[in-house]
This record gives sequence, structure tokens and C-alpha cells, in this order.
Amino acid sequence: MDIVKFGILGCGSAAAFHTLGIKRDTNTNLEFIAAHDVNEKKLRSFAKRKKMTPYTNLDDFLQSEIDAVLLLVPHYQHAELAEKVAEAGKHLLCEKPMATTLEECDRMIEATKKAGVKFMIAENHRFLPAHQYIKTLLDKDFIGDIFLARTYEGAYCEHDEFLDPDQWHFTFEKGGGGVVMDQGVHKFTMLNWFLGDVDSAQCWCSKTLNSPPNKGEDTAIILLRYKNGAIASVCLTSTSVHPLNNTTELQGTKGTIYEDHSRENPLKIFSSHPEAEKKGEFYSPSVPIEHGPYPQYYTISARYEDRYFAECVLDDKEPEFTPEQAKEAVAIVLLSYLSAKKRTIVTMDELKKIAKKKGTHSILEDFLPNIQNNYKNLNW
Ligand SMILES: NC(=O)c1ccc[n+]([C@@H]2O[C@H](COP(=O)([O-])OP(=O)(O)OC[C@H]3O[C@@H](n4cnc5c(N)ncnc54)[C@H](O)[C@@H]3O)[C@@H](O)[C@H]2O)c1
Repeated sequence: MDIVKFGILGCGSAAAFHTLGIKRDTNTNLEFIAAHDVNEKKLRSFAKRKKMTPYTNLDDFLQSEIDAVLLLVPHYQHAELAEKVAEAGKHLLCEKPMATTLEECDRMIEATKKAGVKFMIAENHRFLPAHQYIKTLLDKDFIGDIFLARTYEGAYCEHDEFLDPDQWHFTFEKGGGGVVMDQGVHKFTMLNWFLGDVDSAQCWCSKTLNSPPNKGEDTAIILLRYKNGAIASVCLTSTSVHPLNNTTELQGTKGTIYEDHSRENPLKIFSSHPEAEKKGEFYSPSVPIEHGPYPQYYTISARYEDRYFAECVLDDKEPEFTPEQAKEAVAIVLLSYLSAKKRTIVTMDELKKIAKKKGTHSILEDFLPNIQNNYKNLNW
């Protein structure tokens, strides 16, 4: 095999940026050849546009000549469909978050291990070239030990998406939560990569829209303490009045890194490391980092993650970004919700006890009354 044949399961917004990312790849090791979606109209129109074979039946899709599946469906269906993909002997690349509970994550890990197929979560913050560059700097000790991190993601989601109760995004029932599950999981994955494991969290969730009762929080602040002593703040909103943007600030004992995705050159570094391009002042690295502010940011990261996963299949190697690491990010989402529910600081040990005693779905149950509704009476 010199090229991995992928089937796309779920032909919505994520399918659009994954296929676009690969279309622009001049040296690709994969192709999208088949598609399946429960919505037949959507399936046929997507497959026609992308020149892929449409399968209206899931079993036929899984028995087709595809080597791997890119799973792009609502979060509550990740575990069940992952098991089917694994049972069919297909490699699995699944969009974030891995699932909505730790027990579902375990089912996915177990099924793929049992089937002996490769499995990775398509977490674009692990594959953004700017983040990969930051990681190489951290590994070279450019800024010493990080003691403080601040990170923000603001997304302007169409108000229709929030105001339509039938839309699964940001519902606890099908999405597993609001902005903390949907966007926070990116940040938790990235910070764990840079800082190690989380010890404890405190979280506040609020709604800034007069959204239907079944929608989760659209705004949140999470304070995290890491096992190595570092502390971090994660600010999230999906109602920002600017195009999607991410910023991160890492303060270390020997320097600082700023990242702002809205800039053409997203990084600013202050470091006295011998390889630093300037000493005693901030500089933006001259190395070419493939980067583009939103919306290119989606297609660039999708290309890197899809290509890397195909490489793992072709070279028979385990992905460096492991399912266990992706599960840890879901654990931090659940830890955050537990904190908001209890209105106090909570520890990972406490989360593990809940997982053992009654399962982590119990945290998501009856969560909605714990969200502060800031503009209840506004008529948007
Ligand atoms: N990395 C990112 O920044 C990013 C951005 C957007 C979405 N995502 C992720 O991508 C995934 C999909 O999100 P989306 O925005 O594309 O959703 P979407 O609603 O736009 O598309 C989901 C598609 O799945 C189909 N579907 C639902 N149940 C199905 C089933 N049982 N079998 C087959 N098809 C089914 C729906 O008909 C729909 O076409 C989610 O995990 C989401 O978090 C990631």
C-alpha cells in the first residue's frame, strides 16, 4: 500500500475542511474515496461535489475497499460508530473530542486495540505547525520551566446554531456539553502536551445568549493546576464578535512565548537561549511556519493531521498523539463541569472516584441549571 484510502463517515462542516485540506496537498499519501451519512440528500450532494462513492448503508460503506475511516459525527455517536469501524477492521481517525464520557473513551480504545487497527483523535491543536514549532522550542529549553499559561479561544458561531434547539452542537444530550466540551478540549490537549498532567480545576460556565434551554454554556473560564506546579487559565467563548481566533501565552523561568493566530506570523518569543534570533527583546521567528489565520487554519491543521495518520498506517507505527492523551483532555472537560456543578475546586482523584462509583455521565446529567444565564431577558 502506498496511499491510504479513506472513507468519510459524516458529511458536515468538518468533512468540508478535511477534504479541502487534502485537496491543497501537493504531496499527499491519502485519498478520500467513499462517504456515508444518514442524511441521504447531504451524502449525495457531498459525494458528487467531492467525486467520492456515496454509500447509503453503513455496512456496505464499511465493507468497501477503504483502508481507514474519518469519523465526523456528533459526539454522542463517536463510541458506537468507532466500535463498528474497528470491528470492520478499518483504521480510525476520529474528530475531537474523543467522546463525551471516560467510559465511552475506554470503549473506543478497547475496540481498536482488540481489532489491531490504528486509532488517533484528529485534534488539530496537536498538529498546527505553530504549535509543533512551540513544542520544539520547549524541548530545547528555550523558556525554561513554564510556571504560568494563559490561553483563549473565541469563536463567532452563527447565532442560528445556538438558537435552533434541533441543532446538536452545544447540547448536553448530543454534544456532551457546550463550549468547554467543544472548544475547551482543544486547549486542554495543547496544554497537557506542553505542561504535563492536570491535578485540579476550577470552572465557571455562563450563557451570553438567550439560547434554548437544551443548549449548554457558550462562555467559560477554567483555572487549572498542573502536577508539576504550573498554573493556567483557559478562557473560552463561542459568541465573540470576531472571526475564530486563538491566543496563548507561556511564561517560563527563562523566557516567554506569545502566540496569536490572527497574525500572519503568529509567534513572538523572548529568550536568552543560544539559538534565539534576538536577545533582550521580543522577536518573531524567521523560520517558515505554515500558518494562516482563520479559516485557512482549519485546512492547514487538517492536512497535517490526516497526512500524519496516513503515515502511521503506511509505516505501521503508533501515533505519537495517543488515544490515552486524547482521553485525558476529555477528563479535564469533565473535571471542569464537576467544578462548575460543585462550585468549588475539584481534583483528578475525585473525578476518578466518581468514574469508579457511578460513571462520568453522572456529571453531565442535570448540569444545565448550573450555568449562569447572563442575558436571560434579552431578545436577540
Ligand atoms: N477541529 C475543529 O476545529 C472542528 C470543527 C468543527 C467540527 N469538529 C468536529 O467534527 C465532528 C463533526 O462535527 P460537524 O461540525 O461536522 O457536524 P455536522 O453536524 O456539520 O455534521 C455531522 C454529520 O454527521 C451526520 N450523521 C449524524 N449521525 C450519523 C450517523 N449515525 N451515521 C452517519 N452520519 C451521521 C449528519 O447527518 C451530519 O451530516 C465533531 O466531532 C466536531 O466536534 C471539529
